[in-house]
Amino acid sequence: MNDPAAFVREAVERLRRDIPGRAIVAASGGIDSTVAAVLAQRAVGERARAVFVDTGFLRQGEVDQVARYFHGAGLACAVAPASEEFFAALAGVTDPEEKRRRIGEAFVRLFEKEAERFGTDRLVQGTIAPDWIESGGALRDTIKTHHNVGGIPKDSRLVLVEPLRDLYKDEVRAVARELGIPYPDRQPFPGPGLAVRVNGPVTPDRVRRARVANAIVEEEIERAVAEHRLARPWQYFAVLLPVRTVGVTGDNRVFGEAVSVRVVESIDAMTATSMELPRSVSRAIAERITRELTGEVVRVLYDITDKPPATIEWE
Ligand code: XMP
Repeated sequence: MNDPAAFVREAVERLRRDIPGRAIVAASGGIDSTVAAVLAQRAVGERARAVFVDTGFLRQGEVDQVARYFHGAGLACAVAPASEEFFAALAGVTDPEEKRRRIGEAFVRLFEKEAERFGTDRLVQGTIAPDWIESGGALRDTIKTHHNVGGIPKDSRLVLVEPLRDLYKDEVRAVARELGIPYPDRQPFPGPGLAVRVNGPVTPDRVRRARVANAIVEEEIERAVAEHRLARPWQYFAVLLPVRTVGVTGDNRVFGEAVSVRVVESIDAMTATSMELPRSVSRAIAERITRELTGEVVRVLYDITDKPPATIEWE
């Protein structure tokens, strides 16, 4: 794609053909699905209903933040509360690929219900080329099943409409600029959310711990960036580990959990380098996580691995 204006014209025309009646649009708050949703509403107006799913695996304040972002992008979007369904879908599951498969399936079931209620079988998604390439569309080995691709069951009645399938990230950004959509003021966040930042069983308590730890990492890193103590990283987050470990609070021995902090530099997420943090930043993160989760998290580790051999997320 070399002409974003021409791409928009053609995409709108194609969407009008692909959406003869109505459509549901899966909106995640990321740039890809926001661009797809705005294109769909430009093509067919209110016949395209954008839906943002509150899976229960979102970060602190994320629903409000995403709603503000959609407003700024000129997108009309409904929020679907679905945390019960998502926690139920993951009960007893610890394998990362199985988590992604089940989350994908829960998304599809939810969108099937939304579509039926709205009187359509069309689902617009913001899938871009690297999503299906990394999900095994072109590579022999599946690295990770991106939830928006791998989880769609064969028996689904939904007809997928993917206006951005052939684009790469920089091309999506160019289309966003063409449409006047601001780039979301947030770091990349995986579709399966905190469920893949909770290694091991996904329970409401463990997700709450991961949410608190993620918010602390975000706040402390953003503070350090604002105070010029650190260059802005590509991604910075916390992962709750499936280990129990001993700590002390006051006079008490606690057998608690451990969190790993990951801060990486990257250009395109295909490779990444672990960043070194100033001691003041890592100390503040460790101190706050163990204090704000007293008796729950007793140890904070720092992930010094690059990608490859590790991936950016732990699962
Ligand atoms: P990995 O962990 O594979 O991640 O090095 C590369 C980048 O992709 C993000 N990521 C995802 N994004 N759906 C997404 O939309 C997903 O299922 C998913 N999994 C990982 C990750 O945060 C990193 O920026």
